Amino acid sequence: MRIVSGMRPTGKLHLGHYFGVIENWKKLQEDHETFFFVADWHALTTAYKNTKDLQKNIRELMIDWLALGLDPEKSVLFIQSKVKEHAELHLLFSMITPKSWLEWNPTYKDMKYNLLKLQDIALQFRGGLRDAVKEFMGLIPYKIEDFEKFEERLLDDLAETFISALFEGEIEPQLLKNLNVSKRDFYETDTYGFLGYPVLQAADILIYKGEGVPVGEDQLPHIELTREIARRFNYLYGDTFPEPEAILTETPKVPGTDGRKMSKSYNNAIFFADTEEEVQKKVMKMFTDPQKLRKNDPGRPDICPVFMYHKLFTKDSDLIEQIDRDCRAGKLGCVECKRIMLQGLEEFLAPIRERRQTVERDIDKLIQIFEEGSQKAREKAKATMEEVRTAMNLK
Ligand code: TRP
Repeated sequence: MRIVSGMRPTGKLHLGHYFGVIENWKKLQEDHETFFFVADWHALTTAYKNTKDLQKNIRELMIDWLALGLDPEKSVLFIQSKVKEHAELHLLFSMITPKSWLEWNPTYKDMKYNLLKLQDIALQFRGGLRDAVKEFMGLIPYKIEDFEKFEERLLDDLAETFISALFEGEIEPQLLKNLNVSKRDFYETDTYGFLGYPVLQAADILIYKGEGVPVGEDQLPHIELTREIARRFNYLYGDTFPEPEAILTETPKVPGTDGRKMSKSYNNAIFFADTEEEVQKKVMKMFTDPQKLRKNDPGRPDICPVFMYHKLFTKDSDLIEQIDRDCRAGKLGCVECKRIMLQGLEEFLAPIRERRQTVERDIDKLIQIFEEGSQKAREKAKATMEEVRTAMNLK
């Protein structure tokens, strides 16, 4: 089975990325033809305003991939934007993709929802204004001809001012926060490119005639759309593309240090680029069973994030059982428990950290690896595009 997947370069990788995605990719590269790429164009569908860190983020991702064991001997590792054919196929797919398919896409709908919420706020504000204007009108000692029209115009002007202030960022961020909308979410992504995000993703996959796409659950709608685009293309121009299937990663096994989903934005992530000291600090601050206040209080390992880490990183299964028993019996304190866990975690992280440093020392080699990967990808992509153009009578 030919496997294709990509990752947006949004910064350093953490444990969640490894157990959610990379581990899966590593298994697949052992006995499948695998294409893995840095989706830098996809990063631009949202973060197009500030591209200052783009190259740095791409570089970090490349380093992490190699350090974590993606192997250029086994996988084609490359950078999306180095294979311009993706863009050509994206363009051709955009011709045959009904807009409604994209507008129903959940990611896009979320964004639209935020937009509607913003409009709602503006309307509510307008409602409040109406009352204020009425009151003001009642106070002035003279009569205005054509009162209705004047009121409308005043309202329009004020509403306009409010809305543009909202979008110019002049409204208190705290106000928006209270209202639970992110202004950025909206106006950063109300673009043609963002709407077409899944079309580009379909091109990424189908240009290699990918059959399996290892992704997280959040990507399922995108894979479904890829299948629909493949089907439509085949129907219109003849059998060209396979209908790829998602290869789901099981639910993430590793929570963040506070027990929630591990995420950079929650500030609960352990990064592969973290030093030993940083990791130690994070682990010592980790959340445990909130009912276990003192060393001798009995704890509940089944709800404790630290215990979940034990299951992943503590190699000795007898020791894990003992920890489970001692914690429940109130014989093991959290500090001691964390110390034991930290040993296993460090055993896992240390070699990765070391490989990171090795890779970082030879950036030229890193660049060459991805250059060669991009070259290999390009060959396959070129061949597919020949077929596509012929099928569409473009030559
Ligand atoms: N949308 C994917 C994500 O955010 C990244 C991606 C881009 C991708 N193109 C792809 C994944 C093609 C799989 C196949 O995670």
